[in-house]
Amino acid sequence: MVSARVARGAPAPIGVFDSGIGGLTVAHEIIRQLPHESVIYFGDTARVPYGPKSPDTVRRYSREIASFLREQGVKNIVIACNTATAHALGTLREEFDMPIVGVVEPGARAAVAATRRGHIGVIGTVGTIKSGAYERAIRALNPDVMITARACPLFVPLVEEGWTDHPATRLVAKEYLAPMLEADIDTLVLGCTHYPLLKPLLGEVLGPDVRLIDSAEETAAETARALHDESLAAAADAEPNYRFIASDDPLQFLQLGQRFLGGAIEGVEIRTLG
Ligand code: DGL
Repeated sequence: MVSARVARGAPAPIGVFDSGIGGLTVAHEIIRQLPHESVIYFGDTARVPYGPKSPDTVRRYSREIASFLREQGVKNIVIACNTATAHALGTLREEFDMPIVGVVEPGARAAVAATRRGHIGVIGTVGTIKSGAYERAIRALNPDVMITARACPLFVPLVEEGWTDHPATRLVAKEYLAPMLEADIDTLVLGCTHYPLLKPLLGEVLGPDVRLIDSAEETAAETARALHDESLAAAADAEPNYRFIASDDPLQFLQLGQRFLGGAIEGVEIRTLG
């Protein structure tokens, strides 16, 4: 993984942003599925978490980041953050003249495709669950599914602490997921950037019959479709460049980021917004 600036004259990069480092799980999947595309990733580490913040604040932050990414010459934007997608996708699509992909619709699509008995659970931050964005997206695809939704705010700090396989996290997961087990869900949407790292533990708590949906794969596939439809895809022989930008503390980004990206990050630029 390199941190080189996108070279002058190089094909325009994909802009990806998140409230922090969690969205690197989505960046990882984009890099895997679209190996010729350059990526600029912005993590708003100075203002994370977005989960408990008001929709207006999250929209303001998202707008600032999208403007910054546009200044950097991106050809499209992927909102890797579930909370920012829930609150700001519509606004950014109205205000920015480029393809904008969020993580909620792809996650909903994958869940509707995966469910066998039509009972889907959704977990996410307080903001995501309160917004009802997943319910709306799932019902738009299939109005007959049953949905059980629950905010799991403690998961984000537990993952950032590295406690992805820890008795405390298992205890918290059992508490949060009890209503899902009672409701007999067959599919669970991991509606937060951090939750894919808890997949093994959540699978253990829920048992093998519940399918776990991580929207990263489907989001990357939707990004590929959007670029193709707008004739914006990079050439098959293009050499990709990757830039990682954070609004605070490059050290934490470097240390934790590797876990989310699944590969080394060699350098992080700092850019303060707002
Ligand atoms: N990135 C956020 C999300 O996916 C989780 C962290 C936060 O609360 O900012 O909703």
